[in-house]
Amino acid sequence: MRHIIDLCDLTEKEFSDLYKLVSNIIDRPEGYVDACRGKVLGSLFYEPSTRTNLSFSTAMMRLGGSVVGFSDPNATSASKGETLKDTINMVSSYADMIVMRNPREGAAKVASMYSSVPVINAGDGGHLHPTQTLADMITILRMRGSADDMKIGLCGDLKYGRTVHSLLHFLQRYHNVQFYLIAPDALKLPDYMVKFLKDNNMPFCEVDSIDEVLPELDVLYMTRIQRERFVTAEEYTNLEGNYQLTAEKMKRAKKDMLVLHPLPRVDEIAQDVDDDPRAVYFRQARFGMFGRMALLLTLSKLPFERAGHHEIGAD
Ligand code: CP
Repeated sequence: MRHIIDLCDLTEKEFSDLYKLVSNIIDRPEGYVDACRGKVLGSLFYEPSTRTNLSFSTAMMRLGGSVVGFSDPNATSASKGETLKDTINMVSSYADMIVMRNPREGAAKVASMYSSVPVINAGDGGHLHPTQTLADMITILRMRGSADDMKIGLCGDLKYGRTVHSLLHFLQRYHNVQFYLIAPDALKLPDYMVKFLKDNNMPFCEVDSIDEVLPELDVLYMTRIQRERFVTAEEYTNLEGNYQLTAEKMKRAKKDMLVLHPLPRVDEIAQDVDDDPRAVYFRQARFGMFGRMALLLTLSKLPFERAGHHEIGAD
């Protein structure tokens, strides 16, 4: 059985096969309408989500499967004190796969320890978000052809941003990637991630504004900065321009630079950037659905034993 806690849980060969499957699904979606017929996805969202939740559900339905689950934990027995262990034990006796978002770092790993079916991490606190990384990688690979030999700027909340942490983990596999970490002091990459970059010889520099590096970049990965992360509203107002992308700033960027964003955005990308062909964040969200289709299909085909569970009717 295979759980996806980090996209790096896939070997290079498995990721390559998954990427080929994504391309096949994009080219010929009608060939997959029954690929997961009879399968049930348990969708457990303990935190708000639009894209990840809806795209997983859409992915399963486009494969002919079904979805059960919740997006409001207050409407479940978690609100009565049921533990994650018991919830996972139950849901894994109903469903063939589980996707879970939870505010606690490590929750997906814990869930995988109590699940008899594959668990996919849909975001665990500030830790990892592997299927967002899948969407990011599909976008980079389809738009650039390769993730090697690029200068990538990661801008915004690098401290709590699980999408950034996940992407950095995965980009360790690629060659000659230079990282520009663009964040205010309060939101710089955490020490454990800086250590990860150093330990893996991933060249990086930390800068204070997009303007400092924009003309250098091949990819700009924007993320949302939450105002409440700043001590005062004034501090936010003073700094926000350093981490905002506008159509005016885009004039200084390379003609083929890609702008990615995991979304949702607030005001870190001005609306007037949306019409720029280099702004690919909405396509990125759509690629995420195809990536999730490929992942669900791949996991559904792996053999697994319902360890610890009796077959229905066996009692
Ligand atoms: N990118 C992403 O995870 O978006 P949602 O929070 O809407 O799922």
